[in-house]
Amino acid sequence: VPRVVFRLPGGRERAVAAVEGASVLQAARAGAVAIEGSCGGAMACATCHVVVDGAWHGRLPPPSAEEEGMLDLAREPTPTSRLGCQIRLTPALDGLVVRVPASSLLE
Ligand code: FES
Repeated sequence: VPRVVFRLPGGRERAVAAVEGASVLQAARAGAVAIEGSCGGAMACATCHVVVDGAWHGRLPPPSAEEEGMLDLAREPTPTSRLGCQIRLTPALDGLVVRVPASSLLE
């Protein structure tokens, strides 16, 4: 099973074992990491914004034009920002590290 490490505000980390084929957003929810993701993965909100660790960013399939467009609406986007709902977890991504900005978390 692919494991995802979520880096949370304040320096906390949570490692979640995800179902293969699940999205990072789904893995977060399964692991009690409260990423907002208000559109439920329909690429219509950008509230699932995560910042992929630099060592992992180049190993992900590139974002679609739709994802790129939606990332422009993310709060505080960075060069390694992605939509959590658009990253599919495969065995090759086992150990993926993403930072969850405070703006993407439900309170
Ligand atoms: S959950 Fe809305 S764009 Fe990802």
